[in-house]
Amino acid sequence: MFAISLAPEFAGGATRVLAVGADGAPTGAGPVPAALEAEFTTLLSSADDPGRPGAVQVLPRPTREPAKVLLAGVGAGDEAGWRAAGAAVIRSARPDEPLQIQLGEEVPAEALRGLAEGLWLAGYRFRDAPKGPRTAGITIAVGNPGRHGQTLETARVTAAATWLARDLANMPASVKNPAWFAEQIVAEAATRPGLTVTVRAPEQLAAEGFGGILAVGGGSATPPRLLELSWDPGRASQHVVLVGKGITFDTGGISIKTRDGMKLMKKDMSGAAAVVAATLGAADLHLAVRVTALAPLAENAVSGSAYRPGDVITQHDGTTTETTNSDAEGRLILADALAYAVAELRPDVVLDLATLTGANSVALGTRTAALYSHDDELAGALTAAGAAAGEWMWRMPLPEDYLDYLHSDIADRHSSPTRGAGSVVAALFLSEFLGDRLDRWAHLDMSAPSWADEDDAELSKGATGWGTRTLLRWLATA
Ligand code: BES
Ligand code: MN
Ligand code: ZN
Repeated sequence: MFAISLAPEFAGGATRVLAVGADGAPTGAGPVPAALEAEFTTLLSSADDPGRPGAVQVLPRPTREPAKVLLAGVGAGDEAGWRAAGAAVIRSARPDEPLQIQLGEEVPAEALRGLAEGLWLAGYRFRDAPKGPRTAGITIAVGNPGRHGQTLETARVTAAATWLARDLANMPASVKNPAWFAEQIVAEAATRPGLTVTVRAPEQLAAEGFGGILAVGGGSATPPRLLELSWDPGRASQHVVLVGKGITFDTGGISIKTRDGMKLMKKDMSGAAAVVAATLGAADLHLAVRVTALAPLAENAVSGSAYRPGDVITQHDGTTTETTNSDAEGRLILADALAYAVAELRPDVVLDLATLTGANSVALGTRTAALYSHDDELAGALTAAGAAAGEWMWRMPLPEDYLDYLHSDIADRHSSPTRGAGSVVAALFLSEFLGDRLDRWAHLDMSAPSWADEDDAELSKGATGWGTRTLLRWLATA
């Protein structure tokens, strides 16, 4: 990731950035240099809504100092406005263009955090991209750098975790098999104190009864894993378990997907990416909460050893499940991980994040996850954390009547009923594995917002890292 640093004041030789408020006048930066004021007034009065979040006006001043000024709209000047401004500024600058951004001495922490996250998130490049990352650093002039160091560090860790989640999801599945994913996280954890990792391979998964993970991963030449990553700060009062769906590629299995339905399925491990990235971020920020991330990792492949429609699987808690559609694989690996978490880890709260159903985008469009929970307080806290972070979710019902849909004639549960709302029924299936933690659980179906078809504000085209930012905000208050 490129560097953003704080300085007391402007140095020469770089493009300067100043903020413009909703009223169309420079804001947040203290007094405007008198020499520039007339030029700004002319430029801003000719622009259409120059204070709109994400608007950028360019003022070239060849042969003078500064030689270029960007005027960036921050709207109401809240965190979202500054985030949009940061994203727009980095998109309008060249990768080798040094930038200096003026903030006033009294800048609120939210403004600096929004600006920095917008710059870093929109400046993302995939780690193996042919076009290299940004080369020039960015300086933010804040008057008193010492006062704002921790805010910038929180933004940096949040962005770095999101970059990691995006890198993992953008990686082609020819590279990203379950063992490879686990190795990446083992390597990341080794650089940070306070973290422990265990990786279970098929032999151990069999010994401990992870029937869902083994069934779903059984058709692949690259066998499944269960990754367990823990952050323990020592004196935590809460233990949070985060479970993330880690299908490294979803062909649909024997119930094979259509050509169109399959083409983005390397991203089907985005939930796993978000939970491990957030846990690494929690360690970087020394958050005072114990976190265990569980990532069941498998490739849902088509082969002679693939599980079949009609198979009955024994999940980790002994529940048998009948599956008639091998494309409903996510809930089977999650059921194992959730049951294991409840039985073995004694969590206070359990969250799971999963690219679970296409029905998520049918109900809520491309940017909003579906949130399920019986816990009003938890649902409210997650929604608030998401809104602050710039990630949207909407609460959906868990109607008990629909539990009948999960009836099977030959097993304890049916895993893929064709009746009813797909995202809701999938959530209800998961709810059956929460035991005594049912009232301290939330599920996020994040199929839709895990991917962006185009650059969009702080999202860059491709994997979005959705959930990483929400989880870090929420963990900081948990
Ligand atoms: N990984 C898919 C869900 C998905 C679809 C994620 C589109 C992101 C974008 C999941 O494994 C799946 O195939 N779900 C099925 C469930 C059905 C078979 C009950 C679906 O949504 O069609
Ligand atoms: Mn599937
Ligand atoms: Zn899937």
